[in-house]
Amino acid sequence: MGSPRKGESYKITQLVEERMKGLGEVEFEYLFLMNSGLKQCVGCHACINLGEDACPHKSERKVIEEKMSKADGIIIVSPVYCQNVTGLLKNFFDHIAFMWHRPRYFHKKVMAISSGGGQFKETLKHMEQNAKAWGCDFVCSLGVPHLDALTPKYKEKALKDINKKASLFFNKVKEKRIVNPGLGRLIWFNIWKGNSIACKDTIPQDLKYWDSMGWLDKEYFYTAKINVFKKAVIALVGKIGKIMMHRIYIGY
Ligand SMILES: Cc1cc2nc3c(=O)[nH]c(=O)nc-3n(C[C@H](O)[C@H](O)[C@H](O)COP(=O)(O)O)c2cc1C
Repeated sequence: MGSPRKGESYKITQLVEERMKGLGEVEFEYLFLMNSGLKQCVGCHACINLGEDACPHKSERKVIEEKMSKADGIIIVSPVYCQNVTGLLKNFFDHIAFMWHRPRYFHKKVMAISSGGGQFKETLKHMEQNAKAWGCDFVCSLGVPHLDALTPKYKEKALKDINKKASLFFNKVKEKRIVNPGLGRLIWFNIWKGNSIACKDTIPQDLKYWDSMGWLDKEYFYTAKINVFKKAVIALVGKIGKIMMHRIYIGY
C-alpha cells in the first residue's frame, strides 16, 4: 500500500478483496509502506553492486520482501501523485532495484491499483514496469476515480471494472500457470544476461547470481517454448545491440 493514509486506494483494494473472497478461498495481507519504517534510499548502490545484504536498510526491506516472496499474488497500490506513484512506493521500488538486475518472482501474479482524478496511465505503467522487471507475471491494472464523486452511471461502470479485474486476478492466481514469454521478455532476458557479463567487474554480484541460477547458457529464466522465428529475432537484436553497446560502453 503506497498511500500514506487509509483513503480511497485502500477502499478500492478492499472492494477487490471482497470480490476475490466471494469467488473462493483467498487470504489477504495488507502491508502499509507508511508503517514499514523503510528509510529513504541513500543511493549507495550497495544492493546492486555488492548484493542486497549490503543495503543499509536491509532489515526493514527484508520484512516486506519476505511477505512478497511467500505470496502467490501481489497487489501494488498507489494513488496518483503528480501523475505517478507516491514517494513512499517509489522509495520501496528503489530499495528493490537490484531485482531489475537479478529477477526472481517468476511464479507471482501481480495486479496494480491506483486511485486519483483519472490520470492513471503513468502511475499504473510504472508499477507494471517494476513488477515485470522483478520477473512477475503482470495480470492487470485498475485505475479508479473517487467513487463518491462519480455520477451513478460512472460509479456503476467503475464498480463493474473493479469486479472484472478482481475476478481476472483471482483466476490467474488460482490457475498458477507459468506464461510462455513473448518476444519482448526474451529480448529483456538477453539484454540483462549480456549486461551481467559486460559488467562483471563493476557489478560482480550480477554475474554471480546469473551463473548460480544457471541462466548464462539458457534462453530464458525458465523452460519455455521458443519458436524459430523468435530465436532468429533475438539473435539479430543481440548482434545489433552488441555492436551499438560496444561503440558506447567499455566491456561490451
Ligand atoms: C501530493 C498529491 C499529488 C496528487 N497528484 C495527483 C495527480 O497528479 N493526478 C490526480 O489525478 N490526482 C492527484 N492527487 C489526488 C490523489 O491521487 C487522490 O486524491 C487519491 O484518490 C488519493 O488516494 P488515497 O486516499 O488512497 O491517498 C494528488 C494528491 C496528492 C496528495
